[in-house]
Amino acid sequence: MTVMDFVPLFIFALVVSVCSAEISSKVGINWGGLGNNLPSPTRSVELIKSIGAKQIKIYNADPDILNALKNTDFVVSIMVPNEIIANISKSQYLSDRWVQTNVVPFYPEVKIRYLLVGNEILTNPDLGTWYNLVPAMRRIKSSLKTHKIHKVKVGTPSAMNVLESSFPPSSGTFRSDISAPIMKPMLQFLNRTKSFFFVDVYPYFAWADNSKDINLDYALLESTNVTYTDPVTNLTYTNLFDQMLDAIVFAMKRLGYPDIRIFIAETGWPNNGDLDQIGANIYNAATYNRNIVKKLTTKPAIGTPARPGSVIPSFIFALYNENQKPGPGTERHFGLLYPNGSQVYEIDLSGKTPESEYTKPLPAPTNNEPYKGKIWCVAGKGANKTALGDALSYACSQGNKTCEQIKPGKSCFKPDSLVWHASYSFSSYWAQFKKLGGTCYFNGLATQTAKDPSFGHCKFPSVSLL
Ligand SMILES: *[C@@H]1O[C@H](CO)[C@@H](O)[C@H](O)[C@H]1NC(C)=O
Ligand SMILES: *[C@@H]1O[C@H](CO)[C@@H](O)[C@H](O)[C@H]1NC(C)=O
Ligand SMILES: *[C@@H]1O[C@H](CO)[C@@H](O)[C@H](O)[C@H]1NC(C)=O
Ligand SMILES: *[C@@H]1O[C@H](CO)[C@@H](O)[C@H](O)[C@H]1NC(C)=O
Ligand SMILES: *[C@@H]1O[C@H](CO)[C@@H](O)[C@H](O)[C@H]1NC(C)=O
Ligand SMILES: *[C@@H]1O[C@H](CO)[C@@H](O)[C@H](O)[C@H]1NC(C)=O
Ligand SMILES: *[C@@H]1O[C@H](CO)[C@@H](O)[C@H](O)[C@H]1NC(C)=O
Repeated sequence: MTVMDFVPLFIFALVVSVCSAEISSKVGINWGGLGNNLPSPTRSVELIKSIGAKQIKIYNADPDILNALKNTDFVVSIMVPNEIIANISKSQYLSDRWVQTNVVPFYPEVKIRYLLVGNEILTNPDLGTWYNLVPAMRRIKSSLKTHKIHKVKVGTPSAMNVLESSFPPSSGTFRSDISAPIMKPMLQFLNRTKSFFFVDVYPYFAWADNSKDINLDYALLESTNVTYTDPVTNLTYTNLFDQMLDAIVFAMKRLGYPDIRIFIAETGWPNNGDLDQIGANIYNAATYNRNIVKKLTTKPAIGTPARPGSVIPSFIFALYNENQKPGPGTERHFGLLYPNGSQVYEIDLSGKTPESEYTKPLPAPTNNEPYKGKIWCVAGKGANKTALGDALSYACSQGNKTCEQIKPGKSCFKPDSLVWHASYSFSSYWAQFKKLGGTCYFNGLATQTAKDPSFGHCKFPSVSLL
């Protein structure tokens, strides 16, 4: 053998190892911090090890977190906050400075591999950022290059609602308002930089919105006999997750980019939620997350019907139940862990624990059918009095005669207490505004109840679910 015979082989081996190092089937965890009761960064890192996660995604570039991750083996994804994208898109100087401040001091001691520009930017109403998104991604990439940081992929997480059509999967199409002006240049950027299309995929929400027509086991990756065949491609689906992912694949194909790799920036299932939210429970959450980990870590890789055998790198949402996340109750209950660090259910993201070793029984689900009946919205226990007073004033300022009955002399004036009046105002507000998208939340001061708080001549307005 001559030396020449070795060279091509050697190069080939190098290329293969670089690629496989890049796409990991090791499941990661989303570490969100919207709670006032969460463990310290150092303690959190220990907890993340204990659940077998190998990659960590954070929603900022918090130096305390990054310091705690120095010289660990975790592959890390950090994020440019939404608020500064517009400015960064217009100024290479600001972009350079962001990278200088938030990446350079921690690299390479922290294995930062992904830098996400904003979070679900294209979901929210456009606050002047949509058109700045891709330019900002280009600037950040260029700043990294200036610092000779070549291992960091730049991307941005999209929600499924970047699609206007996703069913059947072969009809996957990006929304017409963003397709040509934003998605096309984004895909071009991702293709040129060999990055990923990052997407948040929640079969939970797809199923919850349409639980009459979608089989729950199909959404939980638990079904053995429910399948769906796409009439255009003849591809057969055995779960909702694959179906949603392939809709993205076909949407990218439509714009001329059939090969861009997909990275699951978030997926998960809530372990609890509000009374009017279906299927959010520990049983389903454990089932979904265990099944998804099994699917994603199986070797050789399973992929999806449109991309059989492809590795799907992923982050599970989320590390903790976060008590300060706004919105419906499910938002505060996606955690694998309670804030005190104990597991909500047994889970091992490394994929090395066989199902038979999860020995603690899961509580039987009680809300897999829609709740039927009346619901009231009342002030939670131990609420901050100042904040409660503000919320009461706000609720009373909305809608029609919302607080008429708690005026002096009216049927609900007594007992004349802040908590009682706030509860009345919350119920009265919600009864009018639920149909318009209003929530029973009030910055965490309010909670739903099936127990009628009315007494005596006082009748609390309610929401009726049939
Ligand atoms: C963006 O730049 C403008 C003009 O320099 C400045 O007023 C504004 O505070 C900046 N916004 C943010 C979020 O930094
Ligand atoms: C799938 O199997 C389950 C349990 O055996 C059964 O209840 C269900 O009806 C079956 N569904 C279909 C579509 O065959
Ligand atoms: C799908 O299957 C049908 C019936 O077997 C066949 O006629 C059609 O050509 C197939 N389509 C594709 C895209 O393979
Ligand atoms: C980029 O696009 C070209 C042309 O479609 C394709 O051959 C290539 O595989 C793509 N690369 C990535 C990383 O998507
Ligand atoms: C942690 O919090 C959960 C939920 O509040 C509770 O059920 C559990 O007992 C707590 N665990 C410990 C060790 O305190
Ligand atoms: C109570 O709420 C008020 C107004 O929202 C806030 O300023 C204050 O810090 C809160 N107090 C406590 C103890 O959380
Ligand atoms: C309040 O009453 C007006 C007039 O009847 C009506 O148009 C409006 O929708 C009501 N507002 C709510 C929140 O129900």
